[in-house]
Amino acid sequence: MIIAVDGPTASGKGTIAKALAAHFGLPHLDTGLLYRAVGRQVFLTGGNPDDADAAHAACAFPETLLGDPELRSEDTGGYASRVSVHPAVRAALLERQQAFANQPGGAVLDGRDIATVIAPHADAKLFVTASVPARAMRRWAEMKQLGKDVERAEIEADLAERDERDRNRAEAPLRQAEGAALLDTSNLTKEMAVATAIALVEKQVARG
Ligand code: C5P
Repeated sequence: MIIAVDGPTASGKGTIAKALAAHFGLPHLDTGLLYRAVGRQVFLTGGNPDDADAAHAACAFPETLLGDPELRSEDTGGYASRVSVHPAVRAALLERQQAFANQPGGAVLDGRDIATVIAPHADAKLFVTASVPARAMRRWAEMKQLGKDVERAEIEADLAERDERDRNRAEAPLRQAEGAALLDTSNLTKEMAVATAIALVEKQVARG
């Protein structure tokens, strides 16, 4: 069984995808991490994330970079969002994601274009969303836990800018795929969001 989970940053899609993987006993791939690694590699090599050639070259990042805690930072998220607009970057990461999705037994993948590009044949598709203030609040709490004191307004502005870029890019823009179930987590606890996601997947799979 292949489960595709798409949505904007800090919508809860990562938590939901991880919980779905545990519930259904499937391997999980956070595809945002691949784009973050490319963004981080551009930064580390002093390249310009808006330059297609520099961004493409960074797709050959060392595997060890995937364990870098800096991948989770807001700065790296911004770099990731900028490198991800380049078609050459998306093409370079495509095969790896498709191979993961199509492995025997299936998988759960979360990202922006899983149900639209990577695995349109997925058995279940969720589009997870939440209001900008709800997402900013969560990101702020996460940062605080990491000991980083960032203004909530600054996080909101950053989220809005990244949403805009992800939704309006020419290649694989963020959008709800046909047949994907919408899950708005703005007013849900983590437990409620996960329970709803499991029920939606079961319903889609039963429908065939
Ligand atoms: O989900 P996360 O915030 O880690 O993703 C970082 C950035 O990577 C996103 O803002 C988006 O631009 C890009 N991305 C993408 N396609 C994916 C996953 C992430 O373009 N499948």
